[in-house]
Amino acid sequence: MMKAAFYCFSATGNTKRICGLFVDELKKSGYETEYFAIRQGATYAPPSDFDLVFVAYPVHGFSAPRIMTDFAKALPASDGQSYYIVKTSGEPLEANNDSSAVLMRNMAAKGYTCKGEFHYVMPYNMLFRHSDAMVALMWRAAKNTVPADAVIAASGGEKMPEKSSRARMIRRALAFEHGGMRILGKFFRVDRKKCVSCGMCVKLCPFGNITMDESGRVKFGNKCMGCTACSFHCPQNAINIGAMNRFKVNGAYKFSDDITGFTAEDVCDYCHDAYLRYFEAHGIKLPAGGDKE
Ligand SMILES: Cc1cc2nc3c(=O)[nH]c(=O)nc-3n(C[C@H](O)[C@H](O)[C@H](O)COP(=O)(O)O)c2cc1C
Repeated sequence: MMKAAFYCFSATGNTKRICGLFVDELKKSGYETEYFAIRQGATYAPPSDFDLVFVAYPVHGFSAPRIMTDFAKALPASDGQSYYIVKTSGEPLEANNDSSAVLMRNMAAKGYTCKGEFHYVMPYNMLFRHSDAMVALMWRAAKNTVPADAVIAASGGEKMPEKSSRARMIRRALAFEHGGMRILGKFFRVDRKKCVSCGMCVKLCPFGNITMDESGRVKFGNKCMGCTACSFHCPQNAINIGAMNRFKVNGAYKFSDDITGFTAEDVCDYCHDAYLRYFEAHGIKLPAGGDKE
């Protein structure tokens, strides 16, 4: 049996969810699949154990998160094994197209060759909370597209987004975010009145950056990468993420793929046209709808 590996970092579940769609498709093609959740200090079976390799991540500041670029650096050397990137982002903007540059460079330094990159837009875990309608549209768009993308990967095909110099410029301009988050993360705070010391944030932090003392008091260290796993999943919404708190999104989304009756009016105003174009490119043509009240 052919074997596929997913090396995935997913702070709030979107990227993992997309990997799940790939897993379902690859199983139909007779693949056995293994999913590795990337965490600092963890060890994984090497890519050489697998016939098909996926490296998956959410876009952070128009780049791959630090935990993934570090993951690539720690891989065993290869003599040209190929792999595919699966990534999710909140915006359907072309500025996200160059986000894999550093990750790909680190992978190439270890001898791995990227054959394709599959990009899906998923609900924001930062900035603002998407409506249920937007979530359904995104999920439907992914479900429309993953089957064909999985066939490309399973057949060793190629698919690369166009990477403009503008996208490269934006990625480079925001490169400070990786270092900056370590500082911003120090100012995360827990509201002691809301916190029930359940330990969820400690368990979820991929960097082991959150600790809890004997009295149940939560503390943040200086390794944060701002992934929001802690604040998104906090069942008490007790975590204040400092300078970014007004952009915080708390609580899991409900994923339906029923888009019956939706019109362009269901698409958020923010980046409205870009989302419409994304949905259309992913098999969803929305009628214009009436005027908004
Ligand atoms: C710190 C941070 C930075 C982000 N930066 C971007 C970005 O540059 N572009 C974008 O489209 N989405 C951005 N997002 C949104 C996420 O990429 C998106 O919600 C993703 O699907 C989350 O995936 P996950 O649930 O697997 O962590 C950012 C989210 C966070 C937390």
